[in-house]
Amino acid sequence: MYVADVGRSWLNHPWKTKSKLITSQDEIKELLDYGITEVVVDTDKSAAETDAAARQSAPGKTGEGVTPEGKAGRTAPNKARPAPKAPPLHPAPDAVSAVEMELPKAGKAYNKALDTSKALVAACRMNKKIELQAVQENVDELVESVSRNRDALMALMKLRHFDDYTYTHSLNVSVLAISTGKSLGLSDKDLKVLGMGTMFHDLGKARIPGHILNKPGKLSDEEFVIMRNHAALSGQIIQEQHLQVEDLVYKIARHHHERIDGSGYPDGLEGGAIPPLVTICGLSDVYDALTSDRVYHKGRSPHEALKFIYSLRGTHFQAEWVDRFVQSVGIYPPGTLVQLNSEQTAVVMDINQNALHAPLVKLIADPTGMLYSRPKLMDLNNASEARGLKIKKVLSRDETGIDTSYYFNPPKE
Ligand SMILES: [Fe+2]
Ligand SMILES: [Fe+2]
Repeated sequence: MYVADVGRSWLNHPWKTKSKLITSQDEIKELLDYGITEVVVDTDKSAAETDAAARQSAPGKTGEGVTPEGKAGRTAPNKARPAPKAPPLHPAPDAVSAVEMELPKAGKAYNKALDTSKALVAACRMNKKIELQAVQENVDELVESVSRNRDALMALMKLRHFDDYTYTHSLNVSVLAISTGKSLGLSDKDLKVLGMGTMFHDLGKARIPGHILNKPGKLSDEEFVIMRNHAALSGQIIQEQHLQVEDLVYKIARHHHERIDGSGYPDGLEGGAIPPLVTICGLSDVYDALTSDRVYHKGRSPHEALKFIYSLRGTHFQAEWVDRFVQSVGIYPPGTLVQLNSEQTAVVMDINQNALHAPLVKLIADPTGMLYSRPKLMDLNNASEARGLKIKKVLSRDETGIDTSYYFNPPKE
């Protein structure tokens, strides 16, 4: 069977080209491992190129889509059709295995970038040269990971709450921004600019006195002025260090606190003067700041944070960008621990961008809190599967003592 298109960019499938003659079950298994559930089959080419052996091993009938299980699937047209530009908005449950598969790679990329984030802050504090190449390499890896599966890094970001906010914040903003950019269909080049800019966006904080930066209470007017200066300082550090980066990287760093109504800083830019990539950084920045646990207070739930961001719609941020951000992050991001209306406990595994309130979850405990030995996947947006089950509230790790990372990467049996 001749596969004309796998419907993914080359980073997201195992072959060197998007088209290929399939002659064995192993090749179908390869697609399955990448979470690919449908392909486009060119029946004309299949007939011409498929030899007897291929016909024997290829499942289904010529002219039908191939599902990973090797059964005939949705009927495809005779001719190859263009691949959809974006991945499916609502991945099938199989996509969860792709999250699990991506987690080790995403974990390596995240840890490496966390070290780089620490080195960046240290370099700025000691006025040392920033290792630009290391940051570029890390950002490339983050972009590649998000391109393969955008939810793995998002889940990790949610789970690594125990690391110091000073270092995790810039990295988390980077992950959120790249992930949002990816779901908006930005090019890899733009995603990398976004990744660099967000990694650098708060560098200026390294030059803000610790007693102001970490002050538990409200800042005085004078302290607030000093604190606000961090954005201009972030841009200044990029210039002082003569970093060879795109101008937009500088703009993201300097302008991430600008707001469309002109109430932001340092330059009071308004409306269209704020580039879209800067807006994505601004939204990601507010979201991570609100949801992160700090020394003196607990972070808000993603649900509350998005509600707050929604209240800034049309004043601080353009309405459509807020909508897109909310849709990209999902009100229950992967890794969120939730209680269902059945009182069962579940972990969000994957968001459903068409129905943000009904993600794909893993049921992990019964109504009494007893953990299941075999957690079960459930798509809350699938009426016949969910049978009225829905999310009642978000639970915190502190409330339950449950480490949700276990459910993304369970030990092999
Ligand atoms: Fe900032
Ligand atoms: Fe920030």
